[in-house]
Amino acid sequence: MENIDWKNLGFGYRKTDYNIRCYYRNGAWGELEESSSEFINLHMAATTLHYGQEAFEGLKAFRGRDGKIRIFRMDENARRLQDSCDGTLMARLPVEKFQEAVKRVVKLNERFVPPYESGASLYIRPILFGTGPQVGVKPAEEYLFIVFVTPVGPYFKGGFQTTPFVIMREYDRSAPLGMGKYKVGGNYAASLVAGERAHQLGYSNIFYLDAKEKKYIDECGAANFFGIRNNTYITPKSSSILPSITNKSLMVLAEEMGLKVEQRPVPVEELSTFEEAGACGTAAVISPIERIDDYDENKTYLFSPDGKPGAICEKLYKKLRAIQYGDEPDPHGWITVLE
Ligand SMILES: Cc1ncc(COP(=O)(O)O)c(C=O)c1O
Repeated sequence: MENIDWKNLGFGYRKTDYNIRCYYRNGAWGELEESSSEFINLHMAATTLHYGQEAFEGLKAFRGRDGKIRIFRMDENARRLQDSCDGTLMARLPVEKFQEAVKRVVKLNERFVPPYESGASLYIRPILFGTGPQVGVKPAEEYLFIVFVTPVGPYFKGGFQTTPFVIMREYDRSAPLGMGKYKVGGNYAASLVAGERAHQLGYSNIFYLDAKEKKYIDECGAANFFGIRNNTYITPKSSSILPSITNKSLMVLAEEMGLKVEQRPVPVEELSTFEEAGACGTAAVISPIERIDDYDENKTYLFSPDGKPGAICEKLYKKLRAIQYGDEPDPHGWITVLE
């Protein structure tokens, strides 16, 4: 295994040995290819550079106590990438090819999968983009799919912790009939200014409301939102948020724990009724929310007066992590154990 200070690793790019590539040319995807280069040779008129024909994914592999490597719900990421391709008129990558590429890249970089005890994991980043040249606004005729990996440290270095978020109505991430439901680069470009502003003010990120009416809750930075009230898990249904695979998994686990699950438009005033709140996504599983400050209305929604995560957030977090690391059984077939 690589000699890395796993516990103190952050979330950043670190070179590994190989990446997997696959080219779409003449109307068909080719064979998977191994590469040890971190660079690509790209046409200056590639549609990805001019018209944002680009989509990506993010998932993780975990090393268990038994030393085995487990990949979490990669079929879901494969399908979400297909949706993003449909939304940007890019060539769809078959689900099986995606899965094969992910398994191969993890296997080839096995020595970078952090040890169980570290709480770190291997982040897997698939990207697909238009490489063919166009000058008019048109889809490319050629595409490239790449998967690379990078080891990332435990999200909570000082233990499972709460953070504050902020509502600022001057920023939108995506429009109701726009691209928010796809994992495309433009959405992240659109969030950088707001994210930076939030960080400068000491928040972990922006808490987005729906762009049209500013009445309903959308997302928290690059994570879905859920609130807990009266033994119920409540999460927004919206056409402008990314369908989070973590959220989808938590809804299943919440139901199994005996909670009611509601996925529906959530009015912003409802924040005042939640006993617990969390942001969820691949990076942290759950990032419990301490409070949400409404910057424009000078109001605070407080969930954690003592700064500690709520009991249900913690239970859900521990349960999903235990499945990912193989500490508990996987009754839903979410895990692929690497051979
Ligand atoms: C905008 C946005 N929302 C939500 C999520 C969470 O999705 P997932 O649980 O699939 O990681 C992500 C990605 O992590 C994201 O970028």
